Amino acid sequence: MSKVSIIGAGFVGSTIAHWAMITGGCRVVLMDVVEGLAQGKILDLIQAGPIAGHSVDAVGTNDIALTAGSDIVVITAGVARKPGMTREDLVHTNANIVSSVVEQVVKVSPDAILIMMTNPLDTMTYLAYSLSGFPRERVIGQAGVLDSGRMRTFIAMETGLSPDNIYTTVLGGHGDEMVPLVRYSAIAGIPLDYFLTPEQLDRIVARTRDGGAEIVRYLKTGSAYYAPGAAACRMAHAIMGDTHEIMPASVYLEGEYGLNDICFGVPVVLGRNGVERIIELDLNAEEQAAMARSEELIRGTMAHLP
Ligand SMILES: NC(=O)c1ccc[n+]([C@@H]2O[C@H](COP(=O)([O-])OP(=O)(O)OC[C@H]3O[C@@H](n4cnc5c(N)ncnc54)[C@H](O)[C@@H]3O)[C@@H](O)[C@H]2O)c1
Repeated sequence: MSKVSIIGAGFVGSTIAHWAMITGGCRVVLMDVVEGLAQGKILDLIQAGPIAGHSVDAVGTNDIALTAGSDIVVITAGVARKPGMTREDLVHTNANIVSSVVEQVVKVSPDAILIMMTNPLDTMTYLAYSLSGFPRERVIGQAGVLDSGRMRTFIAMETGLSPDNIYTTVLGGHGDEMVPLVRYSAIAGIPLDYFLTPEQLDRIVARTRDGGAEIVRYLKTGSAYYAPGAAACRMAHAIMGDTHEIMPASVYLEGEYGLNDICFGVPVVLGRNGVERIIELDLNAEEQAAMARSEELIRGTMAHLP
């Protein structure tokens, strides 16, 4: 059975643990620096197991040693941007946290696949890739599965059709930087413009881009965690199950899409070894311009790395 460790037992980390225990097939270790936090959350989740009928194979800890030998390590440790905090402050704070976590994880789980969650996502994935010394196949940022899931949701809401029939492709960075690709999205293989007017499509694309911020505006003090947690869990299952599913993910590029030395959201094939292949789509001028804007925004954030 695979061992999946989750670093950071806050909203996102504990929700990933919850999804992982519901979907099963792995042992879960949840780790946090706050005394008792991961232990308390795991005890609560284990007690839900007999009631809800899910896995109880989980441990909460403050000790990174208990994560040793993990197959997958999901890194959620970090802070969300608070009012008054600049993007630069966020990068500095989370870069320090991610650096210390990656350093410890690499020592105890040298063969693990890292799934990065901490924001700013593409920049933190780049940092983890650089510090870990892992091959790029084993450092994967989660953003696109969430963003394309949001786009599927909004298309289902607008058309009344089943989200099961809806396939969407969202590339580029996370947040304002994302590039939803209408041309590579479809409902049961039928292009979206068969079902939706240009105005509806514009509305869906805008709401997808704003998807995280819309939730923050409601919650006021935090950000999303149910759908992000489900997205990380879905990626972990594609890896554990060696499913060869195509999913968008932030990975280190070496010339793909004309980009170098950046972590950027692109379609990848996920399997036992992590990223097994990067799919390069043929983009038109408008799509290429959106990708270039996304690259510019990510490089602007990367410039704040200490
Ligand atoms: N990629 C995505 O799709 C996505 C979605 C939502 C949130 N996020 C990001 O995920 C991160 C976590 O969000 P959250 O809502 O869970 O925040 P949170 O504040 O609830 O949890 C963060 C946890 O990290 C812990 N932590 C800090 N330093 C640590 C360390 N060195 N080792 C272990 N744990 C440590 C904290 O104690 C805290 O419990 C944020 O950066 C947020 O922006 C990403």
